[in-house]
Amino acid sequence: MHAAILTVSDKGHRGEREDLSGPVLAAWLAEQAVEVIAQKMVPDEVEAISAQLVEWADGGTCDLILTTGGTGVSPRDVTPEATRAVVSREIPGMGEAMRAASLKKTPFAMLSRAVAGVRGRTLIVNLPGSPAGAIENLEAVWPAVGHAVKKIQGDTSECVKP
Ligand code: MTE
Repeated sequence: MHAAILTVSDKGHRGEREDLSGPVLAAWLAEQAVEVIAQKMVPDEVEAISAQLVEWADGGTCDLILTTGGTGVSPRDVTPEATRAVVSREIPGMGEAMRAASLKKTPFAMLSRAVAGVRGRTLIVNLPGSPAGAIENLEAVWPAVGHAVKKIQGDTSECVKP
């Protein structure tokens, strides 16, 4: 599987905050034998986020895009809106699974508006901005990610439950 990671952060983009979540996610994916083919940081702007998602998804080499940051309720948090603007279908169960798992760790989990969806042959999943939150949320959906990517890309074989 080939993945790309998009860190969404005004401060990170201005150089005022180190991107911790992007590298942590890349290391976690490497442990799962996922090849990270691109990593980038953009500010909390719908156009910038959407444009990067489209470039990677339409490039034809990316099975999975993870975003980190901008899922909350601050005025500048727009990652879910930018994702919705470019996916053809949402996968509500992934957002539900992330919030259900994360609520066991922190009540603030209910503040993440993260969405997941499909653009072409690519699965896009929003994750919160903190390194721990990003990993905890990714772990919640990971058992279904491989199967989701296969189905998105047209696999017609029977579903075998893990
Ligand atoms: N989920 C988990 N598992 N762990 C966390 O630490 N942080 C929460 C929430 N989800 C968190 C979490 C917090 S504090 C916020 S504000 C929201 O995710 C949104 O974060 P974001 O705006 O950085 O994307």
